[in-house]
Parts: sequence; structure tokens; C-alpha cells
Amino acid sequence: MTIQATSFDKSKIKVVLLEGIHPSAEKVFQNAGYSNIVTATKSLPQDELYSTLADARFLGIRSRTQVTPELLQHAPKLAGIGCFCIGTNQVDLKATEVKGIPVFNAPFANTRSVAELVLGEMILLLRGIPGKNAAAHRGEWMKSAVNSFETRGKILGIVGYGHIGTQIGILAENLGMRVQFFDIESKLALGNARAADSFLQLLETSDIVTFHVPETDLTKNMMDATAFKHLRKGAILINASRGTVVEIDSLAEALRNGDVSGAAIDVFPKEPKSNQEEFVSPLREFDNVILTPHVGGSTVEAQANIGIEVSEKLVRYSDNGSTLSTVNFPEVALPSHVGKHRICHIHHNEPGILAKINDVFSSNNVNISAQYLQTSDSVGYVVTDIDQASSDKAFEALKLIPGTIRTRILY
Ligand code: NAI
Repeated sequence: MTIQATSFDKSKIKVVLLEGIHPSAEKVFQNAGYSNIVTATKSLPQDELYSTLADARFLGIRSRTQVTPELLQHAPKLAGIGCFCIGTNQVDLKATEVKGIPVFNAPFANTRSVAELVLGEMILLLRGIPGKNAAAHRGEWMKSAVNSFETRGKILGIVGYGHIGTQIGILAENLGMRVQFFDIESKLALGNARAADSFLQLLETSDIVTFHVPETDLTKNMMDATAFKHLRKGAILINASRGTVVEIDSLAEALRNGDVSGAAIDVFPKEPKSNQEEFVSPLREFDNVILTPHVGGSTVEAQANIGIEVSEKLVRYSDNGSTLSTVNFPEVALPSHVGKHRICHIHHNEPGILAKINDVFSSNNVNISAQYLQTSDSVGYVVTDIDQASSDKAFEALKLIPGTIRTRILY
């Protein structure tokens, strides 16, 4: 990453990284010229959190720190938030948006980790290893080749052919599997994969079915008692997507009847809130089910990738103004602005503001070389590249436009 001169001294831009965010994040900031970085291995108690945030410009969190309107009041300079994880439920996205604070996350940094886990589970389940392993732990010796299969030539049905589904398809083909998928969007098949005619047809014709869909109304209980009736007798079922997708009682019933020969489940309708809470599930009784505590994406590599991805998004926003892939804010992808000054203006989305912004430029004889605009229901984000000589006066005038939330100038 090249170090770019900005209007604000980078050593004064305080970056707070909490909750043991991977050191890869701090390195990205340092490489980009930021030196005022505060890190903590845990979430901070409220008093300490608020005092740390009093002069912070960027905040990095994982899932524990709750970003509430109250927290925002204690962080008046906050310009951007990075959720160094997948979910953003811990952040009040509306409150941050109307304060002009874009929030970033890393939705796909752990894709490979999930794909690898699913691949491993498929191999183990086809061999009947979970059952044999459980028996051996009890002192039973189940030496037999019966119902023990190779992956080669087996048909893998992938439901949801997105970031994870496509990777699994590619990896599975390398094992010699035949891959088919079902997606509600029309998707280009990778490798030799083919699209199934329908969800039910995929269930009827696959040896292994694996789910990689998001949590939506359509995917809620997608794998219910009726769907289980369409599964090939003795098929294997894997869900490492969302806990709402597979009806657990129906799966338990199918396992009891031998309709499903094995399963691997990583996500559950109700998951323990902490490692201290007991995991309760009707699936616990089955030796032929691999149960994992929602760790599909939890690897050291994924954490490192998340550290890099989210901090790069924050650095890009800080240096260049780009809000690409923000989760709560108008998205603007910006080129570099070499030789120009860039003014970023965030305002309430009210009629006439763009005209007022451009009035400021024309009345100050400012030559605009490029302008980018995007709005959401509540907020507008206008980025204007102008000649260097005239930027300061215009910048001051822009701050005074009614409806302005915040302005930044980038050199
Ligand atoms: P993605 O958004 O790249 O792909 C999802 C795909 O599902 C899209 O192609 C979409 O068109 C398709 N889809 C949506 N509704 C559908 C429906 N009703 N029927 C068929 N296809 C449908 O998402 P990605 O990154 O591949 O993640 C997939 C799932 O895995 C998500 O639910 C995500 O939350 C979960 N996940 C779980 C992890 C874990 O730790 N177990 C870690 C990472 C992701």
C-alpha cells in the first residue's frame, strides 16, 4: 500500500482496535502511515471504552462491543467503524449512518475455512468415520468395509452456489466428485458443475447435500419434513450455513429411520450464548452426526484475512473516501485523486443539498474535475475533486450548509 499525503496528520488519527483483533489489522494501518493505534485483547469496560473513544477516529471491534447511540455520543470524532467479523448485529447501523459513520465488515474472508471443513466432513461421513470413532472411544471395534465409500464419482448437491458453495464445488471436483447445484439466482457453473432443475430434483439425485444459503424467509426450514422425503435413501446432509435452514427434528427423524446415513451440522436454530452454556440438541444421541459449535469459518487464517480486509477498507475510506462494501452507508467507489483536493460531504438526504454544494463551488470559482454522489434513504454522500488552490475556502463554506453531517478534505 502506498503512503499518501492527507490533509490531516496521520499521527493524529487515533485508531482503536479492540477484542483481540488479529495483528494483521494493525500492520495494515502502520504500513499506510498510521501510528496512533491503541489495541486491546478484550472488550473494554464502559468507562474505559468511552474515555478511549473520546478522541478516536476509527474503531475496530468484533462481536462483543455494542455500538449504541449512547456510545456514539461518547465518540464525537468517530469517522468509521470496522467489524472484524462477519455479522454487524452488534452495531446500531441506523444510528451510525445518520451520524455519517460508515461501517465495514468482512463477509467473505472465511469462505475457504468453511469449504475445507465441509470437504473434510464429506470424506469422513462417506467412510462412516464419526460412528466408528464414537464406537472406538467406547471400546468397540467396528472393522468393516460395509457402508464405507470413497468420494470419487459421488454426486454432491450444493444448495446456494455463492462464495462458499462455488469453492466447495471446485474442491470436490478435484476429488473426482460430480457436482450439481441449486441457486435462486442464475449462476455460471464452474468446472464441470451443472445446475439442477430444482431444489427437489437436487435432493432426489444427490449422494450428499450441503447447504450454503443465507438466512432469509425463503431458506427458513427449507429442509423440512417434506424436503427430507425427497432425499435419496441413505444420503448425507451437511449444514454449515445458518441454523434456521434445516429443521432439526425432521433431521433427527430421518436419521432414526435410516433415510439419512450421516450428517454434519455446524449451525443450530438455538445456539449456546457462551462456552459455559450447555449445548442442547436432539442430534446429540446420534454417533453418525458430526456436531460442531458454529466454527465453520473459525480458523487462524480466516482471522488474519479478516484483519487485513477490514483494516484495508478503513484505510481506503480514511485516505481516499471510498465507501465500497460498507453495510450501512451510500456506497461510492473512488479512484485516486492525484494532484487534486477531494472534499467529502456527508449530509441528511434532503432535497436541494446537491444544488447548495455546487453553488458553493461556483460562487467560489472552483473548478470541479470530478464529482461522485450516492444517497440512501437518510444520508447523502457527495465527493468532489477540485483544484488545490481553491479548496480551503470552499471547504469552510460547505461545512455551513444546513443539513451537513460532516465534511472531510483529503489532499
Ligand atoms: P453468498 O451470499 O456468497 O452465497 C449465498 C448463495 O445462496 C447465493 O448465491 C444466493 O443466490 C443463494 N441463495 C439465496 N437464497 C436461496 C434459496 N432460497 N435457494 C437457493 N439458493 C439461494 O454467501 P456465502 O458467503 O457463500 O455464505 C453462505 C452461508 O454460509 C451464509 O448463510 C453465511 O452466513 C454462512 N456462513 C457460515 C459460517 C460458519 O461459521 N458456519 C461462516 C461463513 C458463512
